Amino acid sequence: MSNLRGKTILLGVTGSIAAYKAAELASSLTQQGAAVQVILTAGAEKFITPLTFQSITGRKAYTDADLWSADAHILHVGLAHGADLMVIAPCTANSLTKLAQGQADNLLTITALALQAPLLIAPAMDAGMYQHPAVQKNVSVLVARGASLVGPAQGRMASGLVGWGRMMEAAQIAGRIRLALGRGGRLAGKRVVITAAGSQEPIDPVRYLSNRSSGKQGYALAQAALDFGAQVTLISHPSCLTPPEGADLVRVGSAQEMQNAVLQACEEADGLVMAAAVADFTVKDPAAHKLKKRDGVPALQLTSAPDVLAGVAEARARLPRLRAVIGFAAESQDVLQNAVAKLKSKKLDLIVANDVSSADAGFAVDTNRVTFLFADGRQVALPLKPKEEVAEDVISQLASFLE
Ligand code: CTP
Repeated sequence: MSNLRGKTILLGVTGSIAAYKAAELASSLTQQGAAVQVILTAGAEKFITPLTFQSITGRKAYTDADLWSADAHILHVGLAHGADLMVIAPCTANSLTKLAQGQADNLLTITALALQAPLLIAPAMDAGMYQHPAVQKNVSVLVARGASLVGPAQGRMASGLVGWGRMMEAAQIAGRIRLALGRGGRLAGKRVVITAAGSQEPIDPVRYLSNRSSGKQGYALAQAALDFGAQVTLISHPSCLTPPEGADLVRVGSAQEMQNAVLQACEEADGLVMAAAVADFTVKDPAAHKLKKRDGVPALQLTSAPDVLAGVAEARARLPRLRAVIGFAAESQDVLQNAVAKLKSKKLDLIVANDVSSADAGFAVDTNRVTFLFADGRQVALPLKPKEEVAEDVISQLASFLE
């Protein structure tokens, strides 16, 4: 579950062609459970209609016409004071100037002046305008005043020119909003290391041994830890998933690379959650060049891969900051019995046991059915849930360990 659930987000839209992406942003925020209140400037209305946002959010989208309506004297105060966060996306150079100067000549800028919640600004401007000293000056004024800039990104702009000025994508802006809402959460000030996806053990420069882990559970854990306000290092084996906005991503291939990265990251970490499916066996002496068919079927010799959690347990004495270690147990038989053995041998605070043999839990599906097994002997069986909710439960436990 997203930390956007139950939050009120004020979305300001100004006159840029990137306004079409604001509709996608409104949709994403609404789907994640936020109440999205939209204010369009007159310029925005030339690109996109209030009806678009009204249809997406299920709420009235406000324009300057509302500023002059009977309840205008309270509208901007109500909108501003009811918001958990305001995002202006896209924000033109003109609106950026007004915000920096405190000008209040339309519903959006008046509301921004009455705002007490965090303000995120996603600029969108063409032809190198963003680099202009006048724009940069306004940006620095707003940042010094506590606003956060999201982008702009570099790339092809509507004119066909390439440069800095593209509005960030809706998914990235939504991720930055989650990050801002997480600030001050139960894991604020804590560093958390999360591992994800399946290792790749090279056979030759082209081939590798791997497993069916997609990384979904690990990436969901990283997002949940960010939602709780943690500083997150996501150490990931190869995965096609997009890392959550705000996580420091470390890419690794083999089990050995995972172990090196985890031990290094744990020197600064308060908690570790090992959700990666790390190889138990690796290829002894992988070939330096591609194995050729004409040379016949190779006889692969395997050897043990390092056990990352066992390595962490061994190194624990020189990792004084690390106070909680959580592992996962992927089992296809005797689930609880095997998980308890791993909890003890790997010296964990909690192991999350899951039966990977059922079709609706485990590898590459969106749901998981897990049991929490604690070091003190407690066992809690959870019902089938989306991996995002399992992640939230695990991170909530982590927060309890670290509080
Ligand atoms: N793990 C690890 N290093 C490995 C293998 C696993 O740190 N080389 C971690 C996993 O990330 C997980 C926990 O150990 O948190 C249990 O992993 P699992 O694959 O269930 O168990 P194994 O220890 O590999 O034992 P087995 O495969 O025999 O069940």
